[in-house]
Amino acid sequence: MDILGDMRRTSTCGALRAADAEKNVVLMGWIERRRDHGGVIFVDLRDRSGTCQVVFNPDLNPTVHEKAHALRGEWVIAISGIVRPRLRGMENPNLPTGAIEVFADSLRILNRAQTPPFMIENDLDVTENLRLRYRYLDLRRPRVQKNLMLRHMTSVCVREYLNGLGFMDIETPFLTRSTPEGARDYLVPSRVNPGQFYALPQSPQLFKQLLMVAGYERYYQIVRCFRDEDLRADRQPEFTQVDLEMSFVGENDVMDVAEGLMVRVFQEVLGITLKTPFPRLTYAHVMDKYGLDKPDLRFGLELVGISDIVKNSGFMVFAQAVQKGGMVKAMNAKGQSGLSRKDIDDLTRYAAVYGAKGLAWIKVKEDGSWQSPITKFFSPEEQAAMGKAIDMAPGDLVFFVADQPKVTNEALGHLRNHLAEKLGLIPQEEFCFLWVTEFPLMEYDEKEKRFEALHHPFTSPMEEDYGLLATDPGNVRSRAYDMVLNGMEIGGGSIRIHRRDLQEAVFSALGISKEEAEEKFGFLLEALEFGAPPHGGLAFGFDRLAMLLAGERSIRDVIAFPKTQKAACLLTRAPSEVAKAQLDELALRVKKDPAV
Ligand code: AMO
Ligand code: AMP
Repeated sequence: MDILGDMRRTSTCGALRAADAEKNVVLMGWIERRRDHGGVIFVDLRDRSGTCQVVFNPDLNPTVHEKAHALRGEWVIAISGIVRPRLRGMENPNLPTGAIEVFADSLRILNRAQTPPFMIENDLDVTENLRLRYRYLDLRRPRVQKNLMLRHMTSVCVREYLNGLGFMDIETPFLTRSTPEGARDYLVPSRVNPGQFYALPQSPQLFKQLLMVAGYERYYQIVRCFRDEDLRADRQPEFTQVDLEMSFVGENDVMDVAEGLMVRVFQEVLGITLKTPFPRLTYAHVMDKYGLDKPDLRFGLELVGISDIVKNSGFMVFAQAVQKGGMVKAMNAKGQSGLSRKDIDDLTRYAAVYGAKGLAWIKVKEDGSWQSPITKFFSPEEQAAMGKAIDMAPGDLVFFVADQPKVTNEALGHLRNHLAEKLGLIPQEEFCFLWVTEFPLMEYDEKEKRFEALHHPFTSPMEEDYGLLATDPGNVRSRAYDMVLNGMEIGGGSIRIHRRDLQEAVFSALGISKEEAEEKFGFLLEALEFGAPPHGGLAFGFDRLAMLLAGERSIRDVIAFPKTQKAACLLTRAPSEVAKAQLDELALRVKKDPAV
């Protein structure tokens, strides 16, 4: 093994071009591949910038050539040599450095490497767990590297845009009190205050509001948030937000800034010009038409409510659902009557995951007549009305769910996405943005038997609905807005409550007692009494945004060291047990049986 000594790079591997011919260069990097071609040894040398072909020719320097025999994949080397144009016909047009190669006249072996547990290449067929166990090797793959580069460029772009608009980057604490965003907190025990705990912030929500009270007017932060919730492809226990807050604004001001940010990012990072303004649709509208509050607008398959038409029909499943306060909705899969019974059974099972007790269907035959187990239950008038409302034409396949609104919407909303994916109806290259506005302020939680804030409890109700707070809280609309991209919520925010009396009224409607409000949020209530300006803001899910920009399907692919579905880091093996002495210091004892 050799030492680096005073040898330094003069170029990166990916930078060399035909114009560099005849230059003397020093390159350093990892060996991607070594090929022995009857005497001449070729090495593809990789660093962060790309790869370059290095040639060890026995005629040029027999000692160096002899040494190169030992080289293996992922060894770290330094070479010096001369850049030469490749022989005619030997150029590689697929490689940016494909016009040249470097003839090595010296070689230092800086480190050896074991044979990696998987190949460092883009198309890998190994489990994600193995990749995460050796994440530092996985991160060498060009695809992951490209993702992280894109994430970095996005963050630079976000900062430039917000700095340009007068936003100030201000850090807020990680060791803090619970900041309710609907998930469980990660707790940190306090050694100097035995028996007391900090909570890691689920978002900087309260601090950014306090910064508005403090008069900072425009705040932003690219900040880590912590939420102990069940993980999915688009959720991590720690994730990053682009968080911002503004004073003296209404909904449109915040939405304009956020939209402008997307325009800038998509232009600079992907070279795509977005059309603005993004459609602004109310919650009531999207629920009605798409069944979900984050609809994917890249395809049709809209839902149609038919409760009124079928409420007195002979099909008891439909009629009774409506009579019990539920709803019947249809989704017309245009031209899909070719789907088989098995396909329909699969879709029925899919809808059942969201609580649907069945999935009724009607196929429209070429002659316009219906093929369906439920045709017989509907009168000719009802059939005609359904046909018209649902726009049923020969070749169509229509699905129905009848249930309470929540189940009907969720089942058909998810089925809509699933079917579009299955039928290839989604244009993959398209970016379809929209805003969803006028969310309900709160939702009744059947399990807890009380109202829960849909966004968070600091969101302002719409002025026209103040009167309903005490009498009909379920029907109060909020000044919240979500930005949705291709069926994913990438950002959300609201205009906040900036008056103590209104904040107290909302706490009260949420079933939070005066004492509890004082105990948990007394500092906020107090701050609202010291000149809190009208304010509002928003936070983007930065990982989700980076994932969509990179065209990946999991946020783990745009996070350097992500956690698994079980919230574990396979590389460092966190979380782990700790020594008894450490627990003693924190005045903690671990239960043998966590259930007791
Ligand atoms: P919200 O809870 O909607 O709002 O979060 C904002 C955005 O953060 C992203 N996000 C997540 N990304 C990855 N993993 C998670 N576990 C996760 N949870 C949320 C989503 C979401 O749109 N304080 C408010 C913002 C505000 O009102 O200004 C908040 O945190 O993309
Ligand atoms: P059944 O009367 O149970 O044989 O159901 C007849 C058809 O109605 C089947 O295709 C079921 O999948 C469907 N079905 C049953 N319950 C529901 C429901 N709640 N919503 C929609 N379709 C249903």
